[in-house]
Amino acid sequence: MAQVESNKQQPGSADTPDGAGSLDTGVRVWPSKRYAEMHRRSMEDPQGFWSDQARKLDWYKTWDRVLDWDAPYAHWFVGGKLNASYQCVDRHVKTWRRSKVAIYWEGEAGETRVLSYSTLFREVNHCAAVLQKLGVQKGDRVALYLPMVPELPIFMLACARIGATHTVIFSGFSAQSIADRVNDTGTKLIVTADGGYRRGKVVALKEITDEAVKMCPSVEKVIVVKRTGQKAPMKEGRDFWLSDLLGDGESQPKVKPEALDSAHPLYILYTSGTTGKPKGVVHGTGGYMVYNHSAYQWVFDIKEDSVYWCTADVGWVTGHSCIVYAPLSHGAAIVLYEGAPDYPSVHRWWDIVQKYGVTIFYTSPTAVRLFMRYGPEWPQKHDMSSLELLGSVGEPINPEAWRWYYKYIGGERCPIVDTWWQTETGGIMISPTPGIEPVPLKPGSATFPLPGIDAAVVDSDGKETLPRQTGYLTIRKPWPGMLVDIYGAPDRYKEAYWSRFPGSYYTGDFAMRDEDGYFWLLGRADEVLKVAGHRIGTAEVEDAVVSYPDVAEAAVAGKPDPVKGEAIVLFVTLKQGVSASPALKDGLVKHLRRVIGPVATPDEIYFVDSLPKTRSGKIMRRVLKAVASEQKLGDLTTLEDETSVEEVKRAYESLKGLSGGVKEKG
Ligand code: PRX
Repeated sequence: MAQVESNKQQPGSADTPDGAGSLDTGVRVWPSKRYAEMHRRSMEDPQGFWSDQARKLDWYKTWDRVLDWDAPYAHWFVGGKLNASYQCVDRHVKTWRRSKVAIYWEGEAGETRVLSYSTLFREVNHCAAVLQKLGVQKGDRVALYLPMVPELPIFMLACARIGATHTVIFSGFSAQSIADRVNDTGTKLIVTADGGYRRGKVVALKEITDEAVKMCPSVEKVIVVKRTGQKAPMKEGRDFWLSDLLGDGESQPKVKPEALDSAHPLYILYTSGTTGKPKGVVHGTGGYMVYNHSAYQWVFDIKEDSVYWCTADVGWVTGHSCIVYAPLSHGAAIVLYEGAPDYPSVHRWWDIVQKYGVTIFYTSPTAVRLFMRYGPEWPQKHDMSSLELLGSVGEPINPEAWRWYYKYIGGERCPIVDTWWQTETGGIMISPTPGIEPVPLKPGSATFPLPGIDAAVVDSDGKETLPRQTGYLTIRKPWPGMLVDIYGAPDRYKEAYWSRFPGSYYTGDFAMRDEDGYFWLLGRADEVLKVAGHRIGTAEVEDAVVSYPDVAEAAVAGKPDPVKGEAIVLFVTLKQGVSASPALKDGLVKHLRRVIGPVATPDEIYFVDSLPKTRSGKIMRRVLKAVASEQKLGDLTTLEDETSVEEVKRAYESLKGLSGGVKEKG
């Protein structure tokens, strides 16, 4: 077990990562010896190191070369052939694990399904056969728009089995979001469900899919999983119930996994950037699987009898890597829960922990803060003694939430792995690694980079910062889990990640290291928001707002939120002759939910006469952020552009005075 050094500290000592005031942690430790040795070796001999890790997987053909680094493109395990579905199912059914539980599924309303590895194997085979029957071939893209039901991981693995590249679309997204993703990838087939449950209500997923398909000329077939049982209009020749395609299942042939090149695209997952529409992050097979298999072991210390529950939705990268590919590649027993954390009651999650004897629990700071608000008496009514390790992901965890999580969920005996990573990194990058050796933890710090990860905090010239100085987080060496490209947009790939600090991967995050070398992640350095851990680009929301007929211009800023971490604030100017009203505000909110999805719902809308702009027409974002957060403007000495400090201050003062008819609280 990790020591929790922080508990010995006085409040206010190691808690303030901003470096304000004196911050003597009293801790003068270096990471554990075993970790330090592993990390050193991975830096000195990356090829030998990753080659040893890759041998933990089954390959049809081993690689000729570990890495071809054709910057900024990394080709891992060149010449190697493998299959991700084989790693996650076939290799377990050849052992005693065939009867081991792979998935404990818990429906929102309390129904359950338990899938052993042999059941999972059978279902993956059947669904792979169904895909083939509908004409899906190696190299095709398949979109999965499904709720949190076992068919989601099953279809991911079925795609992987036949070499089709899946693109999972979060089931909270709108028809327009589906259409954008499907059109970008030229998908011919979508798998969806009749409906999904959200807090007791049914969301008509098939209807949303139908609306999307009207905008998607490439779609030829739609497979529909029966979940809620409500009416779903089926179009003859295009739409098929999965149950009809499967028949009794017995007649479905086994599908041999394709021996795929290491570089074969396993999936495309869309995520927000600073500009334009979400970009399709492409992950390959070999590097991604090797990296996740190793990282998962190091971080979660997975054991044969672990019961592991990651509460993320499979629609995000956390779900891809940490619900599906990494745990199943280890033959772990996972919990998959369909519903909301506090529905139908605040007991729901803790009931599940108790019921399945969860040993490893991985969630977001937003969820921790939600339960903090409800109070510790809820988890305390449950036997949570099975828990051994807790994890956090998706956004910075504030020390107060860390402590609460440690005390009331982990019973002061479970270390917390605060894991920093991104859709693009494929797997966990900075985190404690109890699977190697525990390190003393500090609440709010993700501690150290994993072996193989050369993370650095640099200033705007790319020079490493001094301890406690905020800078940009970069990764100086390629790693096997890294994205292989942006789908159909190699220029965006180069520009977004490799142009800011040539030779290094730019994360878009602020960070700092303390004098013990611990990393503190300090939030996004770009125009990307993290709302309840979900990543949303301001540009994406702005585009959606200006597509509303009454709106002339829009700008979006984030403001701190005690539960969600960050909340969306809109600044909107209206077209001539249109005046602000509650009806207009409602219409705008509905429009945003329709165009992007409920994740884009703003907390506040300000109708303003004009947006603050620099002389060259750029929106003064720091002014808006300060107004939205009700904070001071802060340091203006590093103003980009030709804008004078005076102009910025004037803009701030005029907006700060927003009142009456122009300010519409959301
Ligand atoms: O800002 C960082 C934040 O989430 C961003 C990546 O978002 P996404 O691609 O949606 O992936 C989230 C799940 C892996 C990062 O750039 N982030 C993620 N984990 C942490 C974090 N910020 C602070 N601490 C973390 N542990």
